[in-house]
Amino acid sequence: MSAPKDIVKKVDDLRERINYHDCRYYVLDSPEITDAEYDRLMRELEDLERRYPELVTPDSPTQRVGARPVEAFGTFRHAVPMLSIQNALNEGEVHEWIGRVHRTLGEEGVRYSLEPKLDGLAVELVYEDGLLTLGSTRGDGHTGENITENLRTVRSIPLRLMKHGAGVPSLLEARGEVVIGRADFDRLNEERRAAGEEPFANPRNAAAGSCRQLDPRITASRPLTIFIYGIGRLEGTSVGKHSELLDYLSALGLKVVDRRKVVETAEEMFDFYNELLEVREKFPYEMDGLVIKVDSFARQERLGVRSRSPRYILAYKFPAHEGTTQLNDVIWQVGRTGALTPVAALAPVGIGGVTVSRASLHNQDEIRRLDVRIGDTVVVQRAGDVIPKVTRVVASRRTGREKPPQVPKECPVCGSEVVFAEGEVVPRCQNIACPAQVKGNITHFAQRTALDIDGLGEKLVDQLVDKGMMEDPGDLYSLKREDIAALERMGEKSAENLVKAIDESRSAPFARVIYGLGIRHVGEHVAQVLAEEFSGVDELAAASVANLVEIQEIGPIVADSVCRYFRDGHNQRFLKKLRDAGVRMTAGKRPVKKNIFSGLTFVFTGGLDTMTRDEAKSLVVSMGGRASGSVSAKTDYVVGGKDAGTKLDKAKKLGVRIIDESEFRRMCDLE
Ligand code: IVH
Repeated sequence: MSAPKDIVKKVDDLRERINYHDCRYYVLDSPEITDAEYDRLMRELEDLERRYPELVTPDSPTQRVGARPVEAFGTFRHAVPMLSIQNALNEGEVHEWIGRVHRTLGEEGVRYSLEPKLDGLAVELVYEDGLLTLGSTRGDGHTGENITENLRTVRSIPLRLMKHGAGVPSLLEARGEVVIGRADFDRLNEERRAAGEEPFANPRNAAAGSCRQLDPRITASRPLTIFIYGIGRLEGTSVGKHSELLDYLSALGLKVVDRRKVVETAEEMFDFYNELLEVREKFPYEMDGLVIKVDSFARQERLGVRSRSPRYILAYKFPAHEGTTQLNDVIWQVGRTGALTPVAALAPVGIGGVTVSRASLHNQDEIRRLDVRIGDTVVVQRAGDVIPKVTRVVASRRTGREKPPQVPKECPVCGSEVVFAEGEVVPRCQNIACPAQVKGNITHFAQRTALDIDGLGEKLVDQLVDKGMMEDPGDLYSLKREDIAALERMGEKSAENLVKAIDESRSAPFARVIYGLGIRHVGEHVAQVLAEEFSGVDELAAASVANLVEIQEIGPIVADSVCRYFRDGHNQRFLKKLRDAGVRMTAGKRPVKKNIFSGLTFVFTGGLDTMTRDEAKSLVVSMGGRASGSVSAKTDYVVGGKDAGTKLDKAKKLGVRIIDESEFRRMCDLE
């Protein structure tokens, strides 16, 4: 039975009204009807949809929380990378930035759009012909996670855009910050404590954690909201200024901050900054600074982007939060290289909404520099965000009973001797079998940027090592599912997932394997350099210091460390385990990322450094894109190499996005 016309109309009408009231309530914070009236509309719609299921559409307000839990998130490649923002920490740095802007644009008439920098999770929402088709996290800026089902549950995210003037844009990639308000955060944590669950450390973690739930029903139960602050691609309309863009996005029903302003001078920026700083603690959402954007898009284009951040945006950060408390003790933590690092054990103190009871003291030099003693009153900073640190001692509170912390003579974990190697400021536990080192090595090996073995949390690693099941990360490959399942807090399913993740790690890219080995001084970047230079781990192991220092970017310290690593018998046994387990330790061919460029047209101009233009073109084609010889309005990207000529000018005129070679390589996942 197909639905009668009047029912179709009624359903449409109800949806439009509900969407309108959702916008009044969740986006504009000014409801027009009572909750009871709203519930009545919703029930009427649900009732009609039950009777006429063929009328249910994905953008119906009844369909926010439909989906079942997912196994894992897929990835999503941002068509336009989501870059970061350059920070300024004082007025001088803001002046410097303005100076640079003026040098490119001239001093006359540059206007700046000001808005608060909210602290949450950066996401992108894709609207095609007004319909929300995808939602993703920022991820590494190029590739994020597809969290569409979760973002659909956020009530301030419209499932369908409101019509505005000529209608809706054919394509809109809206970007914004998902946040949890302070009051909601407190309530959420209270509920969690009451339910015996671990409370969230701060609203940002709560927002990010809530968005990354595999079960969208959990996300739906969290008080999330979004503020849109920018875009990726926008098609089917044109806007000339950032401030107009925000008005336009707001007219489409997207939530943008009210507190924003367009100004011309540094003084006006500082005034607005101080205004925000004054209301910072009262503001319903956590903010960590002021974002300053050159307002005109044409001017933004002229300023261009640096590798990681645009030159036309600056974040003038608020000072780090500080608190004063007592230093109860200094604990020495043993890292994966055996290094002992001092950690301050503090009398718990609330800083910026978070209870802090541990803080970093970096190393012994820092202890000396601060002249910090056990029993002191200290100032603790929650810098930027993550790890709090002790920044100074309140000397006037000294009683004379304070005691300088001592470096232990024995490793606090395994009891073996602690040694200061020559020329090193860091004391180290010398026992490579020290459980703390073994655990650190395993965690390092399994981390996302190394072998990416999901599900190997700290508690699990503790058990595996403490029960004698592992001596080094190579033992991961001989773990049996039933042995893992028998451990505390593990079940059949999680054991199975872990075994699968371990299995998959056998084919991790070579650079990540090198990084995962945990060679001192070999970070992610150096590992990448080595992976490009050597065909496999055997060739790398055979290289001499002299061979290694010939490579650009490899200095004597790294070279020496690499050679030492492969000479060490313990490491050789570990490598043998990896080899026996079938872990791929050769460069091999990169898997081609299929179709990430589908629908995109590239034009190359000028000379490239790392490949010929023809190679670049076939790369684009192999990833589903088109490579063209001439620039037109249909071109999506112009890749400018050395001595690029008139094509660049044309691209600028047409407003086509211009990128450099390294940006292009990143898009192809070559960097
Ligand atoms: S514009 C080039 N505007 O800050 C990046 N970002 O530290 C363009 N953020 O990842 C971003 N409030 O998640 C912009 N009003 C605002 C923002 C904002 C918060 C976040 C954003 C970004 C991070 C960079």
